[in-house]
Amino acid sequence: MAEPRVFTLSQVAQHKSNRDCWVVINGRVLDVTKFLEEHPGGEEVIAEVAGKEATKQFDAIGHSKAAENMVLKYQVGVLEGSKVEEVDMIDDVVDKESNTEEMSAFVIKDGANYKSISFYDFFVPLLVAALYFGYRCLTITHY
Ligand code: HEM
Repeated sequence: MAEPRVFTLSQVAQHKSNRDCWVVINGRVLDVTKFLEEHPGGEEVIAEVAGKEATKQFDAIGHSKAAENMVLKYQVGVLEGSKVEEVDMIDDVVDKESNTEEMSAFVIKDGANYKSISFYDFFVPLLVAALYFGYRCLTITHY
């Protein structure tokens, strides 16, 4: 894996507008310009820490694991002098493209089980209908 780019705090401080916004979280330098509008906590909170160290503010919110993984998506380098854990971007980031860890709950993982559910979904109403018509045929009165 290529060595990450190293930035000083004063280099990070040059990116503090909403058109070019960097922050530092846990030693990682992040370019969050494109993320500002999408941030669930609002653009303003990140704007306040633009160009600065934002780890304390990030941790104080108690961001979810999904949010922590998202951080990796915006990393452009590391802060000079900080020890940053190397993360295998493919295995450790849940879904780098869609940032939707929660969405995996909707994935039907067991294909066989899924098939049997749809079979019963179809078969049970058919059986009920057949029983109903059978009952009607037996009990109908002919004049
Ligand atoms: C790249 C950096 C960041 C990412 C990826 C991120 C991501 C998120 C996400 C996904 C949420 C939704 C709740 C959750 O899943 O935890 C959230 C909420 C929030 N974030 Fe961030 N965030 C970042 C930086 C920050 C910073 C620096 C601050 C504060 C200065 C902040 C303040 C908040 C607040 C106040 C909320 C709303 C919490 C709530 O409504 O309960 N975030 N963020």
